[in-house]
Amino acid sequence: MTLKSRIIGCGLYVPERVLTNRDLEEMVDTSDEWITTRTGIKERRIVSGERTVELATRASRSALRGAGLKARDVELLVVGTVTADNVFPSTACLVQAELGMRPGIPAFDVAAACSGFLYALDVADRYIKSGAARTALVVGVDVFSRIMDWQDRATCVLFGDGAGAVVLRQTRGKGGILSSHIHSDGRYWEMLYTPGALTGSPFERRNSPRPYLKMKGNETFRMAVKTMGGAIKEAMRKNRLRPEDIALVIPHQANIRIINAIKDRLGIGNTRVFSNIDRYGNTSSASIPIALYEAVEAGRIKRGDVVLLVAFGGGFTWGATVLRW
Ligand code: ACO
Repeated sequence: MTLKSRIIGCGLYVPERVLTNRDLEEMVDTSDEWITTRTGIKERRIVSGERTVELATRASRSALRGAGLKARDVELLVVGTVTADNVFPSTACLVQAELGMRPGIPAFDVAAACSGFLYALDVADRYIKSGAARTALVVGVDVFSRIMDWQDRATCVLFGDGAGAVVLRQTRGKGGILSSHIHSDGRYWEMLYTPGALTGSPFERRNSPRPYLKMKGNETFRMAVKTMGGAIKEAMRKNRLRPEDIALVIPHQANIRIINAIKDRLGIGNTRVFSNIDRYGNTSSASIPIALYEAVEAGRIKRGDVVLLVAFGGGFTWGATVLRW
């Protein structure tokens, strides 16, 4: 039997502060009705002072607890994020120190916006399959409240803060990650980006735009449906899966209308696609691991089930992962 990696523990952490659509009505010209019908979001969590590393550390502790392992058991740490507290050190190095993980293990961040977790999972899976690590911690964390223009109603209603994590363990058994397919197309970077540039050098004169997220919503919507639909088909073909073979699809939680469009393309019922976008909005890299944790807790995934994760984000980046639980 070939080496595979299997998820043996999931964790989540979201900030306590809840920002509802009603709260947003007080801040910008919007309505609960518009946000709900256009996106499916009712509320989101927002940090009030917590750093990205704190969210990531708490989600990691929760995943390690779920796996019944100690921080010192981890041999690889990969963090998907685009909202690290510092340019460097990476969030991963800070989490390594916070948790007292073994000195010397590889720990690094992966930046792929809302696809960050699937990218990080793909990297960790390859380490484990190659035999370079036996136990890995994979985290998805983002704090988009810091890169929002809170006066721009077209974007500030969409995002929330949070973190999710999984522990991967090497296995020769039947369960585990069956395949992973990640992609990017940098030609579309201007559809979804933050304009913030590093400044401070006395040798160059540059106006520093504020680092607020900019998005061409309609184009992004169309590409999200197209690329995630394509990634799902690619993953299904690779594993010879029919729609009825998939117990649960966990898509990136960007917009309930995107999720429904994908569902129509796949031809699967409501019950087999997980969504918690109403409570968290789009948490970027954290969205899939948070959803995975909640799906497992709710008993929506049983041992032996085939689960399909699919993501899309700025870059553009996208991907799909198939696993047998
Ligand atoms: N409240 C009220 N009205 C609003 C709001 C708001 N919050 N935001 C926009 N509007 C208005 C617009 O001004 C526009 O008004 P107009 O017709 O008078 O010009 C009208 O609503 C319609 O605007 P659209 O942009 O056409 O609305 P749409 O139905 O396309 O929904 C949305 C916008 C929700 C942003 C959608 O396009 C979307 O979900 N896009 C994709 C998001 C996504 O997938 N992102 C990828 C991941 S994120 C990442 O990687 C970081």
